[in-house]
Amino acid sequence: MRVALLGGGTVGAEVARILLANSADLAARVGEPLELAGVAVRDRKRDRPGIPADLITDDPEALVNRPDSDVVVELIGGIEPARSLILSAMSHGSSIVTANKALLASHGAELNEAADRARVDLFYEASVAGGVPLLLPLRQSLGGDRIRRVLGIVNGTTNYILTKMGEEGMGYEEALSRAQALGFAEADPTADVEGFDAAAKAAIIATLAFHTRVTIDDVHREGITGITAADMSAARRMGFVVKLLAVAELTDDEAGLVVRVHPAMVPHSHPLASVRDAFNAVFIEAEAAGEVMFYGAGAGGQPTASAVLGDIVSAARNRTTGSRPGWTRPYAGLEIRPISMVRTRYTLILDVLDRPGVLASVAGSFATHDVSIQTVRQDQRDGGAVLVIRTHLARESDLAATVENLRELDCVEQVVGVMRVEGEEGS
Ligand SMILES: NC(=O)c1ccc[n+]([C@@H]2O[C@H](COP(=O)([O-])OP(=O)(O)OC[C@H]3O[C@@H](n4cnc5c(N)ncnc54)[C@H](OP(=O)(O)O)[C@@H]3O)[C@@H](O)[C@H]2O)c1
Repeated sequence: MRVALLGGGTVGAEVARILLANSADLAARVGEPLELAGVAVRDRKRDRPGIPADLITDDPEALVNRPDSDVVVELIGGIEPARSLILSAMSHGSSIVTANKALLASHGAELNEAADRARVDLFYEASVAGGVPLLLPLRQSLGGDRIRRVLGIVNGTTNYILTKMGEEGMGYEEALSRAQALGFAEADPTADVEGFDAAAKAAIIATLAFHTRVTIDDVHREGITGITAADMSAARRMGFVVKLLAVAELTDDEAGLVVRVHPAMVPHSHPLASVRDAFNAVFIEAEAAGEVMFYGAGAGGQPTASAVLGDIVSAARNRTTGSRPGWTRPYAGLEIRPISMVRTRYTLILDVLDRPGVLASVAGSFATHDVSIQTVRQDQRDGGAVLVIRTHLARESDLAATVENLRELDCVEQVVGVMRVEGEEGS
């Protein structure tokens, strides 16, 4: 079994190292030796310890076009040339393993159809939660169940930042700088902090969990840059933590699907609340299995290489035995609905004047838009009061209208924070 590696960076170098170091075990598991046929990189001159120099090439097309590659492993990232290289490898009959979330979330349908036509495997376990096994359990172990909802912490950078803000009282900028200093965040953190990375992963999860084609463009996305110390301290006082969640769920009529990424308050009692620092976890609510959670390292060379190696073993084993697992087809074709259809609980923080009648005016705004209040807490502040209001389940569109109305009230000086609450009983 010849394995061609496209990319020898953070993940690719670890995959090459493990392939070479564990060759005897891998051969026994696959049923045939796995031979590293080559490693394509951009800069051939760079020192790459552990990878034999004669395996390095800067010509990925030539590596992919070799007729004797059984498994092509794409670890370059981005859309092009990764997409063309994968399609070309498939047309030569190679099975594909990739960790490329951006590509899967935008061109997943094209790649799956091409794999189907070429009758080769396409595996991408590492694309969602690094070293955490998730996609294979979704495709196979839970393949006979009906999934109702998936809640995921799938971006380690933002989880690290939010953990530092929540536990150590850091501001957003300070927590981001700490994450950058420790290598948990890129110099340009936009893809992580604005939720693009999590949205790509949400699209991949939703496609597999709900048997419906979902792309990153279908995902409602909000990042964490607007989260304030006030949001954090209100959450803490009420027994919640703030997490950036990727949520995919059936609508009440079960004919639609809403996929969203946004910060949310999660109660301490929920298993996702204990997922700290750069860790990832995905919590699944299935009809028969009930609640299932997958937890672990969502990124990093070694954990991600573990998931890639698992896919290589599966793909190589399928070739030695002549079998294929079959595809998760998007047969359900659920309608992708807008976030305005979703019903969630909310917490609002308002700076208000400290005078009689304020509570009545504020409560009136909620009632006018059919949003029912669960609790109200009032604290003093210099020159006024702070109201922390929790709602019962409310539609996103009704809540938005309420907030608009509150902003127009004379007694409301500022709407300081509005955050969804997820993971509570009944929500
Ligand atoms: N890093 C993680 O923790 C992680 C986690 C989950 C998923 N992933 C995914 O895994 C993939 C790889 O990530 P990474 O962190 O390993 O990236 P990386 O460190 O930037 O490595 C990219 C590799 O691709 C090579 N490359 C780039 N453009 C090329 C081209 N046109 N032709 C040939 N080679 C090219 C680079 O060559 P040079 O070495 O010469 O620059 C480098 O070896 C991405 O899709 C990423 O989203 C990464």
